[in-house]
Amino acid sequence: MKVRKAVIPAAGLGTRFLPATKAVPKEMLPLIDTPSIQLVVEEAVRAGLTDILIITARDKGAIEDHFDRAPELEALLDARGKFDEAKQVRELSDLAQIHTVRQHEALGLGHAVGVAEAHVSGEPFAVLLGDDLIHPSVPLLREMLRVHERYGRSVLAGLEVARSEISAYGAIEPEMIEEDLARVRSVVEKPPADEAPSNLAAIGRYVFTPEIFEALRDTKPGHGGEIQLTDAINSLAQEQAVYAYTFEAGRFDAGNKLDYLKATVELAIERDDLGPAFSAWLADFVQRRKLL
Ligand code: UTP
Repeated sequence: MKVRKAVIPAAGLGTRFLPATKAVPKEMLPLIDTPSIQLVVEEAVRAGLTDILIITARDKGAIEDHFDRAPELEALLDARGKFDEAKQVRELSDLAQIHTVRQHEALGLGHAVGVAEAHVSGEPFAVLLGDDLIHPSVPLLREMLRVHERYGRSVLAGLEVARSEISAYGAIEPEMIEEDLARVRSVVEKPPADEAPSNLAAIGRYVFTPEIFEALRDTKPGHGGEIQLTDAINSLAQEQAVYAYTFEAGRFDAGNKLDYLKATVELAIERDDLGPAFSAWLADFVQRRKLL
């Protein structure tokens, strides 16, 4: 069955970005001028998924507003001759068919995905996390959907990270079957580096068969007392084949402050409108501070 739906969990507390996230959802923090959740929605749309369910929570109304029409703002921009900006604002509400549902309590990513069950209604679906941003030139999700079309099973996105970093991720025990494809033997959430089955990390893009919901229902709180998606994937992998599509480049981490800063700098340097001036300033800054 062809995947049509994407689920974007955005109900977490965002404690790593406090105080910014006290009143503003983490997913609305911008990379330069674009909220991270918009980048993720655009990625889903590029992969052909236009039915998008965002898992939100109390005090996350700004996410819904961002994808809604804003008639007063549009009229004001038109009246002031700011036609490009008006078009940009208008296009945002036509980007995809956005639905929202609330996770009533932040019980973990696994629990948040479980909240999508009624909307997904027995179909395979994709999950995208805003903590991981994928460069628009990298067709990661499209490739994962292709693997799903081939095998009809769940697919993870595997990225090799330094051994010292694997304890920040779900670590995959892979059995390579092709150059960029592995069968997932097991996956373990945030293991100590010396106990990790490999340094292949599961990053925040998934394609799931609906059987993930049964696995989620049976999943007890795990690492950090939260219902972990990784634990459900691990039990799913014991019931039916789960694959990992491996890729190497084009992922930005935006889940913690240092990596968010790096992603902002990289994206700014690539932009036609900002890149030349920003690169020149950055080179000068590095010189002045004798950072090199
Ligand atoms: P994280 O643990 O990275 O996000 O969850 P967080 O909880 O918002 O952030 P910190 O760790 O407190 O800074 C990964 C993704 O899962 C979602 C988050 O919104 C994020 O996109 N999530 C997490 C939920 O939707 N519900 C939860 O209960 C937990």
